[in-house]
Amino acid sequence: PARGLLDRFGRRATDLRISLIDKCNLRCTYCMPADGLPWLSKDELLTAEEIRRLVRIGVDTLGVRELRLTGGEPLVRADLLEIIAGIRADHPDLPIAMTTNAIGLERKAAALVEAGLDRVNVSLDSLHPETFAQLTRRDSLDKVLRGVEAAAAAGLTPLKVNAVLMRGINEREAPDLLAWALAQGYELRFIEQMPLDGDQNWRSEGTVSAAQTRALLSERFQLQPDAEPRAGAPAERFEVLALDGTPLGRVGVIASVTEPFCADCRRTRITAEGKVMSCLFSHQEVDLAHLLRDPAADDDAVARRWAEAMWLKPAAHGTDRPGFDLDSFTRPGRSMSAIGG
Ligand code: GTP
Ligand code: 5AD
Ligand code: SF4
Repeated sequence: PARGLLDRFGRRATDLRISLIDKCNLRCTYCMPADGLPWLSKDELLTAEEIRRLVRIGVDTLGVRELRLTGGEPLVRADLLEIIAGIRADHPDLPIAMTTNAIGLERKAAALVEAGLDRVNVSLDSLHPETFAQLTRRDSLDKVLRGVEAAAAAGLTPLKVNAVLMRGINEREAPDLLAWALAQGYELRFIEQMPLDGDQNWRSEGTVSAAQTRALLSERFQLQPDAEPRAGAPAERFEVLALDGTPLGRVGVIASVTEPFCADCRRTRITAEGKVMSCLFSHQEVDLAHLLRDPAADDDAVARRWAEAMWLKPAAHGTDRPGFDLDSFTRPGRSMSAIGG
C-alpha cells in the first residue's frame, strides 16, 4: 500500500526491528525468567529467505528506511551471516544495526562487517563480575568485554552500550559505567526498566528514573542537552563535561517509563516466528508467517496484512499515567526476550 505503515494516530513506521531468535545465552532478570520459557522450535522460526523477503517488502513497498536485528540473542542464530548478507545484497544502502549481548562477537565481528552489518548496540549493565552475574544469572562478563572490544576494532561503530539501571543493584555504578564508556569511545545509554521482565517483578517505584540517573551522574559530570534533533529516537542525548568544563563526549538516557516517546514512535517489529508487533506493549499480534508460506499470497498480500497490523498500534503504553495501577495493567503476552527490544 502506497501509504506505508501508517497508524490511526498518524505515525508512520520507518524503523523495522526483526527478532531472529527467542533464545539467549544470558538470563537478564529484567528481560527473561531464570528458566521455563518454551523456546520456539526451529521450524517455527522465520527462515533466512523469509526474513529477506519481509525486508524487501518493507523497504520496497512500505517505506522502511532502517533495520535492526534483535533476539533473544541474534548471535545465537546459526545462519546470521547468511541473513545479513542476503539483506545487504538486496539493499546496498540500508542502515543495518544489531542489538546484542556481545557474547561470541569476539570471533564473529569481522565476518559480520564483511556480510554487511553496519553497527551494534551492546547490552551491558555492570563492569563488576559479581553484579554482572547477579543481573544476567551467568558469569560471562569477560566474554562480553572481549566481544565489545572486537566489535569496535572491526568497525561496528558508532558502538552504543545499553545499561538498564536496577535499584540497589547497579544504580550506584552509573558514573563508573559512563567514565568507562567515554574512555573507550562508546556511546552509553541508560535505560529505565519497563514492565517486560519475565518474572513480573516490575514495580513503578522500583524503576530508576531518568531524573534519578541524571542526578547520579551529576556527582561526577555535567550534562548539557544535545542540540541535534532527536527524530523519534528513544534516547535523549546529552553532552558530557567534566566538572571543570572539559568536554568528554556524549551520553543517552532512555526514559521509556517516566518520559515516554510514543507520540513520535517510528517502530514496527516482527517476532522470530513472524508476527507483527505494532508496539512493544501490543496485545494484538498479526501473523505474517502463514502468508509467507502460502503460495497463493503474493508480496502485496503480505504488505497489506502488515499495514493492517500497524493500524492496530496503540497510542501509548500508559505506564506513566497519573494513578497508573499495575494491578489493572495487562502486560503484553511476552517478556522482552521474545519481543526483541
Ligand atoms: P539507536 O538507533 O542505535 O539509538 O537504537 P535504539 O535505541 O532504537 O535501539 P536499542 O535496541 O538499543 O534500544 C534501546 C532501548 O530503548 C531498548 O532496550 C528499549 O528499552 C528502548 N526502546 C527501544 N524501542 C522502544 C520502543 O519502541 N518503545 C519503548 N518504550 N522503548 C523502546
Ligand atoms: N526494560 C527496558 N529495557 C529492557 N531491555 C530488556 N528488557 C528490558 C526492560 N524490561 C533492553 C536491554 C537490551 C535491549 C534489547 O532491551 O537492555 O539492550
Ligand atoms: Fe512505540 Fe509502543 Fe514503544 Fe511507545 S511503547 S515508543 S508506541 S513501541
